[in-house]
Amino acid sequence: MIIGRKLYYLDSVDSTNVYAKSLINKVPEGTVVLANLQTEGKGRFGKNWYSPEGGIWMSTILKSANISLMSIAAGVAVCETFHINGIILGIKWPNDILLNGKKVAGILTEIVDDTVILGIGINLNISKFPDELDGSASSIFLETKKHLDKKMICDLLYKQLDECYLMLKNNMVFGLLTKWRHYTVLLGKEVIVEMGDRKLSGRVLDINNNGALVIMCSNDKVQYIIGGTCHMKK
Ligand code: BTN
Repeated sequence: MIIGRKLYYLDSVDSTNVYAKSLINKVPEGTVVLANLQTEGKGRFGKNWYSPEGGIWMSTILKSANISLMSIAAGVAVCETFHINGIILGIKWPNDILLNGKKVAGILTEIVDDTVILGIGINLNISKFPDELDGSASSIFLETKKHLDKKMICDLLYKQLDECYLMLKNNMVFGLLTKWRHYTVLLGKEVIVEMGDRKLSGRVLDINNNGALVIMCSNDKVQYIIGGTCHMKK
């Protein structure tokens, strides 16, 4: 197994992604940095990521050319981990993991030269969120009333991540995307995608082999989206 072959367990850290970056070229591929809490957890687009005790905050050091597919692989691995525990999560492209329509996990991939830092945050056993999150975030515990053992979930997640990563390395992209299609909440849905100051609306047709979201726009043109944020129309 590649993922978790070396593990750094920290009680408190600013951000596991930042810590993992400091280890590049010093540790083997698949090294995981796991923290009990983060004081400056990072979300996408420079946002803060609320990271108290009770969550899973981890970053894995990997080599892969395709950052979009890495995020897809990580999303699938998170969903598989909880599926095995009887909890069905949904993926909103590119990397929001939802339960009952609320965000319970997120993925932040960063590239440094030929290295990918794959950051995964899972709101596992968190019982309260700050008001400013406006009810958009929740935890596995709050949504299911189940208190799952963190170590058990982490061990399972390494295994699932390993399987998905190997699929990527062995060019089994179709198999990976088939799993993604199974978990996504987006297929056939009307969405608005924001990319910087550009907005696009249409119906989600599929995901392509590069991990781009395929959308049929209102003007009947098909667009392929990499990056950005996707909102489902009410
Ligand atoms: C998102 O905005 O959806 C991505 C959130 C990613 C959070 C994780 S927690 C572990 C890793 N370390 C960080 O600082 N961020 C990621």
